[in-house]
Amino acid sequence: MENFTFYSPTYFAFGKGTENEAGKYVKKFGGTKVLIHYGGGSAVRSGLIDRVKTSLEQEGLPYVELGGVMPNPRSGLVYKGIELCKAEGVDFLLAVGGGSVIDSAKAIAAGSLYDGDFWDFYSGKHIEKALPIGVVLTIAAAGSEGSGDSVITKEEGMLKRGTGSEALRAKFSIMNPELTESLPAYQTACGATDIMAHVFERYFTNTTEVEITDRLCEAVLMTMVKETPRVIADPHNYEARANIMWAGMVAHNGIVGVGRSQDWNSHAIEHELSALYDCAHGAGLAVIMPSWMEFVYKHNVMRFCQMATRVFGCKMNFEDPEVTAKEGIRCFRRFLHDIGMPINFEELGAKEEDIPVLVDKLGLGDGKTGGFVELTSEDVASIYRIAANASL
Ligand code: NZQ
Ligand code: ZN
Repeated sequence: MENFTFYSPTYFAFGKGTENEAGKYVKKFGGTKVLIHYGGGSAVRSGLIDRVKTSLEQEGLPYVELGGVMPNPRSGLVYKGIELCKAEGVDFLLAVGGGSVIDSAKAIAAGSLYDGDFWDFYSGKHIEKALPIGVVLTIAAAGSEGSGDSVITKEEGMLKRGTGSEALRAKFSIMNPELTESLPAYQTACGATDIMAHVFERYFTNTTEVEITDRLCEAVLMTMVKETPRVIADPHNYEARANIMWAGMVAHNGIVGVGRSQDWNSHAIEHELSALYDCAHGAGLAVIMPSWMEFVYKHNVMRFCQMATRVFGCKMNFEDPEVTAKEGIRCFRRFLHDIGMPINFEELGAKEEDIPVLVDKLGLGDGKTGGFVELTSEDVASIYRIAANASL
């Protein structure tokens, strides 16, 4: 195991009715003027925004609102949010929604305390400070409620880029699994895929002797394999929703990845798909991640056998471990298909002829990525080609 630091200071309030405590938590963490940030309408339609406003009013907390965050959140609304925060003297951001809303709130929080262009933070500049953020989560997926990360798309050139900082970790996150019951099955499945991908990005490591984090990773993956079909079959299964919601947090607040090298190439490769086609991040990952696995599994066949046998219950073929490794990848792709995810470019709405554009936008040039297996631009193109033509 490698040396590590781990900082996860978020206060979690989990369970039924917890959104009604939003005002109490804003006060607890020092907010006196709030920006309520939300998405395209689901939180308004469900009455959630009204409940959140009531809880702020009960605490005597003034607020302003900014809705309209789109999936794959855009820079335009971030600029608007920064202006609003500065003009109104906002000192606390309350994100009510999923990863897109939370990430947009994080960008506004950092940009509000910065004189330059907030995009600098998504082009390499480190975020030192940000306004405090609170979250009311409505979808188990991105894990932004527990992570220090934010991903924003710049409209000019549709560049999707991420940043990370301790300053971006939420002060509190309210997680009521009931709020996720209104999700369409497709969006639930996208979230489940993203959660599994966050674990796999950490699971495929070159660090040895990491039994504790291997086992934590496998626990999250096995939970997702068991619980996802249950919520697809019955969207109102509270207990399955609850397990998935907590799994989404555990998958991405960092705890399953400490002390080990990580990969993250599938995420980078996927982000070009959701930037170009505006598809859901989870759907893009369903197409990319098994294809990445097919491309790299020979690098450490036994690690893929470990996934196959422990997570998907495959039988170990000691004569030819590659058979088991490939069977594990097949099981993962079949699982994704069975929960309603696309598995190739056509099903996603992507085009094979766009591969050079995707590779170019990733911007590796003659360089290489880091990760489990270092990839060149040509390697990335090969992964896109596998993804374009994948089948069960
Ligand atoms: O906008 P509304 O109307 O709310 O609809 C949303 C949106 O269309 C809908 N939705 C959310 N909660 C709902 C609901 N519909 C009905 N009932 C509910 N309870 O779901 C759609 C997707 O929402 P979004 O926030 O985009 O989903 P997700 O949480 O998957 O976030 C995706 C974004 O997060 C980024 C992705 O790249 C993508 O931009 N990521 C952020 C990460 C982070 N900050 O740590 C890590 C991830 O790897 C990921 O890259
Ligand atoms: Zn993700």
